[in-house]
Amino acid sequence: MPHLLIEGGHRLTGTVPAHGAKNAVLPLLAATLLPCGESVLHNAPRLSDVNGCLDILRQFGCRCAVDGRTVTVCADAADHPVISDDLMRKMRSSIVFLGAMMARFGEAHLSYPGGCELGPRPIDLHLAGFRQLGAEIREERGQLHAFLPHGRFIGNTVSLSFPSVGATENLLLAAVTAEGTTTILNAAREPEIADLAAYLTACGARIVLDDGTVTVEGVRQLTACEHTVMPDRIEVATYLAAVAVTGGEAELTSMCPAHVATILPVFSEMGCRVREYPDRVTLVAPGKLRRIPFLRTMPYPGFPTDAAAPLLAASTLAEGTSVFVESIFESRYKYTGELARMGARIKTEGRVAVVEGVPALSGAAVHCTDLRGGAALVVAALAADGVTAIHQLSHLDRGYDSLEQTLTILGADIRRVG
Ligand code: UD1
Repeated sequence: MPHLLIEGGHRLTGTVPAHGAKNAVLPLLAATLLPCGESVLHNAPRLSDVNGCLDILRQFGCRCAVDGRTVTVCADAADHPVISDDLMRKMRSSIVFLGAMMARFGEAHLSYPGGCELGPRPIDLHLAGFRQLGAEIREERGQLHAFLPHGRFIGNTVSLSFPSVGATENLLLAAVTAEGTTTILNAAREPEIADLAAYLTACGARIVLDDGTVTVEGVRQLTACEHTVMPDRIEVATYLAAVAVTGGEAELTSMCPAHVATILPVFSEMGCRVREYPDRVTLVAPGKLRRIPFLRTMPYPGFPTDAAAPLLAASTLAEGTSVFVESIFESRYKYTGELARMGARIKTEGRVAVVEGVPALSGAAVHCTDLRGGAALVVAALAADGVTAIHQLSHLDRGYDSLEQTLTILGADIRRVG
C-alpha cells in the first residue's frame, strides 16, 4: 500500500501558494446541478473528494470535464436523481447534493450517510429544514427517498438549532429556485458559504447573507457562469503549523488572511512572527515554540475545528503544557494515539486534550485515522528525529492537493512509496 516516508528535522523555508478550498468546491459542485448551461470552476483543487463529486454528477447524467484545475459541468441532460450506495459511502459529504438534487429533479434517492471517523454525523437539521420547505422525506432501511409534492421547494423560515455548515449549504441550494422567500436563521457563517452564495448569485440567484441570517428570494431559473474557488484556509493553517514546528520561515500566497484571522494569533502566541498582507502571510518561527495555553474550536468566526489537529501536533514540541477543547465534533482525537507512538505526551478525555510538550519526537510507523488527523501526523513527522512512515493516505488525498510537492518546495524530505 502507498505510504509517505518523511525524514524529519529539515527547516521549512520558501514560498508556496494555497490551493482551492476543499470545503468550498464540494458544495459548488453540487450547485452546478442547478443552472442551465456550462458552469466553469477555476482553482478547483485536485482531490479524491472532487473526483467523487464528479462521479456523482456523471451518475446524474451531467457532462463533466477536468482540465488541470478547471472543472466544467453541464447538467442540461441530467435525469437520474440517484446517488448509489458505493458513492455515498465513499464520501460522507455527498449529503450536500440532496438539496440541489431535489430542486433540480423534484426527487432524490440515496443511502443514509451514517457515521464517520469523527463520531456520529447526524443529518437531522438538513432533513428538518427540507421538510419545512415542503419536502416529503421517507427514511427506510438505510435509504432516503425525498420528493417535492409541489414540484418546487416552498420558501419558509428555517431556524437551525446549531449553525451547521452542511445544513446551511443544503438549504441555500434548496432555496435558490424555491417558490417565494426563504430565511435561514442561525445559519453558519463560514467563508465557504459566502463563496457558494457568490457563485449562485452570479448565476442569477437572489441571496443576502447577514451575520448568521441567510435570505433567499427564489427565482425560476439560473444560468451557468464561471467562478474561481476560494483559497483553502485549513491548508494554510496546516502548512503554517509545519513551518512553525520545524523552526522555519515561509510565505503562503494566493490566500485570504481575513479567513485565518483567529488562527494567526495562535501562531503569534507560540512565539512566531506573523505578518499579514492583502493576499499572503509570512511566518518566522522561533527556535523553540511556546505552549498554547487554551484553544477552543468554535463555529466561524471562531477557531476552526479542522485546524486544531495540525496546531496540536505543533504543540507536542512546544515548551510547556497546551490545552485543547473540541466543541464541534464528539470524537476528534483518534490521531493523538498515533502521535503518542512518535513520543508525544497527550492525555484526552472526551472533548479535552492536554498536551505536555516534549524535547523531541522520534520517527515511527503511523496510520492516518482521518483527514486532519493525517495532517497532524505529517506536521509531527516533519520535526521528528529520523524517518516516519505514514500509512492510509486515502484520508490525506481527500483534502490536500499536491501535499508532497508543496512540502518539497519548502525543503522537506518527503516521498510517496508503494
Ligand atoms: C463541514 C466541513 C468540515 C468541518 C465542519 C465544521 C465540509 C465538506 N465539511 O462539515 O470539514 O469540520 O463543517 O466546521 O464542508 N450536526 C447535527 N445535525 C445535522 C448536521 C450537523 O447534529 O443535521 C452536528 C454535527 O454532528 C457536528 C456539528 O453539527 O457535531 C457540526 O456539523 P456541520 O457544521 O454540519 O459540519 P459538516 O457540514 O458536516
